[in-house]
Amino acid sequence: MKIILLGPPGAGKGTQAEFIYRHLNIPQISTGDILRENVKNNTDLGIMAKSYMDKGELVPDDVVIGIIKTRIKKDDCNGGYILDGFPRTIEQAKALDRAIQPDKIDNVVFINANEETIIKRLSLRRQSKKDGTIYHLKFNPPPEGEEVFQRDDDKEDTIKNRLKVYIQQTGPLINYYKDKGILVEVDGSKDVNLVNSLVLKILGKEPVI
Ligand code: AP5
Repeated sequence: MKIILLGPPGAGKGTQAEFIYRHLNIPQISTGDILRENVKNNTDLGIMAKSYMDKGELVPDDVVIGIIKTRIKKDDCNGGYILDGFPRTIEQAKALDRAIQPDKIDNVVFINANEETIIKRLSLRRQSKKDGTIYHLKFNPPPEGEEVFQRDDDKEDTIKNRLKVYIQQTGPLINYYKDKGILVEVDGSKDVNLVNSLVLKILGKEPVI
C-alpha cells in the first residue's frame, strides 16, 4: 500500500502516520523528520534546510524529491509506505508519480483542521527526545519522566506562515488527487481515536475501536 497523508500543519498527519505504521507495519516516511534529523546532525543538507524551516517556508523541491526517491528504494518499502508531509507541491507530486510508475499511489488521506485547532495543537505539541513520539500537553500528555522537546517552528508567527504556505503551495494538491479519484477527506479536529478509526476505514482495514 502506498499512502499519502495530506493536510495543514498540526492536523494530525504524524500522529496518524504512527498509528497506521503500528497497524499495517509499513514504514512512515516523514520529510519533516528526515530534514530535522539532518538539522540536528548539522549536515550540509540540514544547514541549508534550517534556513527555510525556521521561517516556515518549503525546502526546495529538488532537495525533497531527491530524499524521497532514495528513501522509497530501500527494501523496507517493498510492501508499501506512508508518506507524511510529502508531496507538498504539484511538482513534488508529479515527480513522485514518475518515480513509482508503473505503480500508483493507492490512497490519499486528506486530514483537515481549521486554524484555531492548528494553533492550539502546535503550541502545546511536544515530542519524545528518545524516539520522537508525538504528544500534546493537554490532549495526550507524555508519561511522567519522559524527556520531551518543542519544535523550533512551533512558534505562533512561524505556524501562521506555515499555514499560509500550505494554502498557497500545497492546497492545489487537493484537486490534483481528487481528479485521480484517490483522495478522501477526514475531519482531523475530531477525537484522535475517532480519526484513527476513520483513517483505517478509508484504507479498507478494520477499525480498532
Ligand atoms: P513537517 O514536519 O512535515 O510539518 P507540518 O506539515 O507542518 O506538519 P506537523 O508535523 O507540524 O503536523 P502534523 O499534521 O504531523 O500534526 P501532529 O500529528 O504532529 O514539516 C516541517 C517543515 O519541514 C516544513 O515547514 C518545511 O520547511 C519542511 N518540509 C517538510 N516536508 C517538506 C516537503 N515535502 N517539501 C518542502 N519542505 C518540506 O499533531 C499536532 C499536535 O496535535 C500534536 O501535539 C498531537 O498530539 C496533537 N493531535 C493530533 N491529532 C489530534 C487529535 N485528533 N485530537 C487532539 N490532538 C491531536
